[in-house]
Amino acid sequence: MSTLTVLGIESSCDDTAAAVLRWDGAARVLSSQVSGQTDLHAAFGGVVPEIAARAHAEKLDLMVELALETACIGLDALDAIAVTSGPGLIGGVVSGVMCAKGLAAATGLPILGVNHLAGHALTPRLTDGLAFPYLMLLVSGGHCQFLVAHGPDSFERLGGTIDDAPGEAFDKSARLLGLPQPGGPSIEQAAEQGDETRFDLPRPLLREPHCDMSFSGLKTALLRARDAVMMEGNRLRRQDVNDLAAGFQAAVRDVLAAKTARALEAYMALSPAEPALAVAGGVAANLSLRTALAAEAERAGARFTAPPLALCTDNAAMIAWAGIERLRSGAPADDLTLTARPRWP
Ligand code: KG4
Ligand code: ZN
Repeated sequence: MSTLTVLGIESSCDDTAAAVLRWDGAARVLSSQVSGQTDLHAAFGGVVPEIAARAHAEKLDLMVELALETACIGLDALDAIAVTSGPGLIGGVVSGVMCAKGLAAATGLPILGVNHLAGHALTPRLTDGLAFPYLMLLVSGGHCQFLVAHGPDSFERLGGTIDDAPGEAFDKSARLLGLPQPGGPSIEQAAEQGDETRFDLPRPLLREPHCDMSFSGLKTALLRARDAVMMEGNRLRRQDVNDLAAGFQAAVRDVLAAKTARALEAYMALSPAEPALAVAGGVAANLSLRTALAAEAERAGARFTAPPLALCTDNAAMIAWAGIERLRSGAPADDLTLTARPRWP
């Protein structure tokens, strides 16, 4: 097959997405549509699975139609349909799988069930053409792990968070500081005016000789530091918030950078032909973190890449791409017995 055109469908968390990708020696994103649900969940302080599932079921057909229309193609131009079949919120994953099965049954196209995390982990090959094996740091509101990508269906986990994901910690900490959601960007903005050395926040597990991390204690430490300031002055001033934000961001960055150095050590021992470190996930938008990770990669002699933000956060282009990787590798497609897997390591 010299040209492959694949429709991707993603609905495992709070984004309903559809995309069309074409491979003809090089990959092209013909369209990538994402419809978020942030407004629907805003009042609840987190994603409500039942609301998410309902919204996915309502939106999926529309997003698929929009993706095909924007790509200026019909279903007849497709070679396969790739869909996130796990892990994630079961209601959303089922909605996506049912939508893909309906399309596959109607068209006779092959269906490809894709692991959501594999979608994230394969994105640097779509955007930067990385060669296997490469090291991947996935940092978002729900994930935090180091993976060595050996092949389209072969990933080795070197370590990850043992409690909160960093994005979750950013969001909860922003709430403690009275900053708006999502917490990552607002903490980053406040931190620009802050002094990161004023509050000495902990860096858990920093010296442990493995790649595991912990972020839940950091939030508690931030709460204590905040309350101590309030006891002294009764009121949290703007500068206090900025300094607390800067201290928090620095602690997360230092832990991720130190563990990245450890992960790079293990990865470089594999003597990769074209050593590379890629970072993806919403937290990868953080400039202070990116700078620190780029420095670690340079020190280790690896290339550093970060896909553009729209392909770092949840999207369907990465799912279509994982489908193309699978077809190119010659692995067999799934069939209409494909099921949703809420848990899928
Ligand atoms: O990958 P993503 O869009 O969604 C999932 O978690 O699946 O990541 C969202 C997370 C949120 O927790 C958000 O606060 C965080 O990424 N984030 C950031 C920044 N931008 C987004 N964290 C730190 N610095 C940022 N600039
Ligand atoms: Zn994701």
